[in-house]
Amino acid sequence: MKALKVNKARLWGSLMEMAKIGATDKGGCCRLALTDLDKQGRDLYIRWAEEAGCVVKIDQVGNIMATRPGEDMSLPPVGTGSHLDTQPTGGKFDGVFGVLSGLEVVRSLNDLGIKTLHPIEISVWTNEEGSRFAPAMMGSGVVSGRFTLQEILDKVDVEGKRLGDELKRIGYAGETPVTGRQYHAFFETHIEQGPYLEAEGKTIGVVTGGQGQRWYDVELTGQESHAGTTPMHLRTDALTCSAELILAVQSIAQQHKPGCGTVGFMQVGPNSRNTIPGKVTLSVDLRHPDDAALSDMDAQLQETVARLTQETGVKIELKPIWYYAPIPFAPQCIEAVRTAAAALGYSHMDIIAGAGHDACYVSDFAPTSMVFTPCLNGISHNEIESTTAEECEAGCSVLLNAMLQMAEVVAIEGVEAPQVLQKVSQL
Ligand code: GLV
Ligand code: MN
Ligand code: MN
Repeated sequence: MKALKVNKARLWGSLMEMAKIGATDKGGCCRLALTDLDKQGRDLYIRWAEEAGCVVKIDQVGNIMATRPGEDMSLPPVGTGSHLDTQPTGGKFDGVFGVLSGLEVVRSLNDLGIKTLHPIEISVWTNEEGSRFAPAMMGSGVVSGRFTLQEILDKVDVEGKRLGDELKRIGYAGETPVTGRQYHAFFETHIEQGPYLEAEGKTIGVVTGGQGQRWYDVELTGQESHAGTTPMHLRTDALTCSAELILAVQSIAQQHKPGCGTVGFMQVGPNSRNTIPGKVTLSVDLRHPDDAALSDMDAQLQETVARLTQETGVKIELKPIWYYAPIPFAPQCIEAVRTAAAALGYSHMDIIAGAGHDACYVSDFAPTSMVFTPCLNGISHNEIESTTAEECEAGCSVLLNAMLQMAEVVAIEGVEAPQVLQKVSQL
């Protein structure tokens, strides 16, 4: 079967339209999970999916499933999808590209009059980012059984707002059960969010797996005291201790190449310029593609905490809040992506996902892979995140052909059954 291409202008137009919801001054997007803006993005997506002939359902954790019927509805769908929520200073493409690529696949199949044996399903997963509510990948995590529905509904944001209440408030506490979901195969298209495809001059990343992650909440308790009257040797300063901890996180990652270590969230109490900080809460994010190395990073972090407690007198509570081991994707889905990229004539390379993706959790219960496309200077989680219509077209076209390999073409409008495959090869 000759490779098919999607409609570049339509895909780009939809990306730009969605980017207006939560648009920031610097050209990015802020659509935090389960806010009013997230609701607006979801509503727009559902309108588009229904206009494209999909049947839309919402599950108990707010995931949206849009289904294009297949000839045999007793078969599990071939799935795709990603997320519409963003970071506070997020870009226009992280997640959204994967969702709207799914929609563009459906729109292209409609244009071509192609009927598939398996249904096609596009998911919008709830709270992939893990920014407003931690951890990340919650919607896919509940469906995969990594998290229970109740523990996720009970998560609170920094203002104490409960996820389950916010889901109801925006009208996305659905009824479809989170259990029993099946896919014949699942593919997620995503910008790479890193520098490798651009550096190697490749159009497509064939994603072979995702690196492992460990997240922690850390609470440091020292003693608040007067900034002008407390001699330096009598202080128990939670913030200077945090500074040492942050540098240790950086050093642990540097000793475990290609591991990453980040402290991205911090609150200082009482946050007053002339009081020595008595309380700090911060986050630690450790990642590595090798699980043994990730465990070693974890052990070093624990040792650092014990050492700093002893040296500074600051009480440090290190609370692990999330762990998942590196995820290998399914060989048949990796091969479908590689075959599709080659058939379209795109340069490609194998790559491991550095970010967390819903596909990592879907891979627990379905054969899965991902399609990566380059992004300018490898920058993501930033309002300046940038890619081109051509790069999006390439990733989405690979998705279309990888999905068709799995979903099986049974008919094309206006073509007699015996000629079907021949007709596809002429497109
Ligand atoms: C999700 O965007 C993550 O990898 O942190
Ligand atoms: Mn993402
Ligand atoms: Mn992200």
